[in-house]
Amino acid sequence: MSRFRPLSRQSVFYLFLIASILVIISWLLMLQSHSIYLSSLPSFTLPVPPGNQNLDKSSTATLDQERRRDSRKCSGSTNKKILKVFMYNLPSVFHFGLLGWKGKEQSQSVWPDVRVDVLEYPGGLNMQHSIEYWLTLDILSSEFSKNLSGRSAVRVHDSREADVVFVPFFASISYNRYAKHQKTNSKSPNDLLQEKLVKFLVAQEEWKRSGGKDHIIVAHHPNSLLYARMKLWPAMFILADLGRYHATIANVEKDVIAPYKHLVPSYVDDKSDFERRPTLLYFQGAVYRKDGGVIRQELFYMLRDEKDVHFTFGSIKGDGINQASQGMQSSKFCLNIAGDTPSSNRLFDAIASHCVPVIISDDIELPFEDILDYSDFCVFVSSTDALKERFLISFIRNISNVDWTRMWRGLKQVEHFFEFQYPSRENDAVQMIWQAILRKIPARKRDIHRATRLSRTGERGGFISAPLPRNFW
Ligand SMILES: *[C@@H]1O[C@H](CO)[C@@H](O)[C@H](O)[C@H]1NC(C)=O
Ligand SMILES: *[C@@H]1O[C@H](CO)[C@@H](O)[C@H](O)[C@H]1NC(C)=O
Repeated sequence: MSRFRPLSRQSVFYLFLIASILVIISWLLMLQSHSIYLSSLPSFTLPVPPGNQNLDKSSTATLDQERRRDSRKCSGSTNKKILKVFMYNLPSVFHFGLLGWKGKEQSQSVWPDVRVDVLEYPGGLNMQHSIEYWLTLDILSSEFSKNLSGRSAVRVHDSREADVVFVPFFASISYNRYAKHQKTNSKSPNDLLQEKLVKFLVAQEEWKRSGGKDHIIVAHHPNSLLYARMKLWPAMFILADLGRYHATIANVEKDVIAPYKHLVPSYVDDKSDFERRPTLLYFQGAVYRKDGGVIRQELFYMLRDEKDVHFTFGSIKGDGINQASQGMQSSKFCLNIAGDTPSSNRLFDAIASHCVPVIISDDIELPFEDILDYSDFCVFVSSTDALKERFLISFIRNISNVDWTRMWRGLKQVEHFFEFQYPSRENDAVQMIWQAILRKIPARKRDIHRATRLSRTGERGGFISAPLPRNFW
């Protein structure tokens, strides 16, 4: 009997101690593997606010700071992960054909040779949603560049090697140019293209394999892809905001918010400062009576008598772009008020002009917000506060020269993240979008694997549902 004596108090204590130590050790191991994962993230340089610059030199760095420093050290490292992109060879009516490209008779390719033949995207207001064009050009050109430094994505021709499948449909220009109905009760060319696209996609091996979850579809214009979005929603969308989407069709977990292409020129060699920007607050935009736009009118009545505030209605077209550019470059703050959608290109115009954005748009989604802290270079005001009598003007007048200068410097540090160009450069908007997609891959993979758990061998593109390890917790 004595063999089954109950454990003494002392041995219970030791058992407890050993168990606790084991828990702590496994916890530390988990943290470590987490930081390994962090260091394999794509490279980016976070803007360091001037006040924090000696963080890196501090000798009393805690574990947390240590880790943060490690992940910053690896920015620009050469062995960063590159997104592998498979792109459908869709007929050119879905992409460059919409820009007037006819193709070459002798070549069978649906793509222009982007080394010599770069079609222009139509200018004016079209340009703000031209995201699909810059991404497609970059993917095409990745085949010709030997030098991968500065690149975040490359094209692969075997979809099984790819991380994502890119759908080269120029949805924004298709909406801007071809959404008009030719006859009443007939479908517009934009509708017909979307129908064709849906039919094509759902028949593809790649789509069936993942249920579309690893597909990238650009729909930056808020009215683009109106029909197809209802069918293609498992895909990852690249969007301007979520204002016109139901949460199951688009959400921040699944989709990527991309900047608008700014319409005003970048402020090169900006030598201005707080004193040399005479206008306190600048706003130019359309009046919207619907949705969230009511606030614009209210603010207009509140601000119109302030002497250093510029507040005019009207969209910027033609010479208006030059005027807006001059206006923003000589203002300290630029207002961004929700219009008929939560976002607008005005924010990116303000950033390019180094005019500190004042954002009054409660539902706005901002590009790359998982790695950028917009409060370093923007001011946010809730619409409830903004509508309080004299709140906004007093709040803005209270921002000191020092605080403004800190945000103005911040803008100059981040502006290249919002620059679309061809050829694309390291950490510009195109590369930032690829990197944002790359950061979503693990979660997407998890979703795909979950969805295929029960699929039988061979039936759905050869997926085998692997049993989870028993002791997985
Ligand atoms: C590759 O391109 C980067 C800039 O993107 C440049 O700094 C580097 O020198 C290039 N390397 C080679 C081998 O050409
Ligand atoms: C601006 O500063 C004044 C004086 O410090 C203060 O009374 C006022 O509440 C501030 N206004 C806002 C909107 O923060």
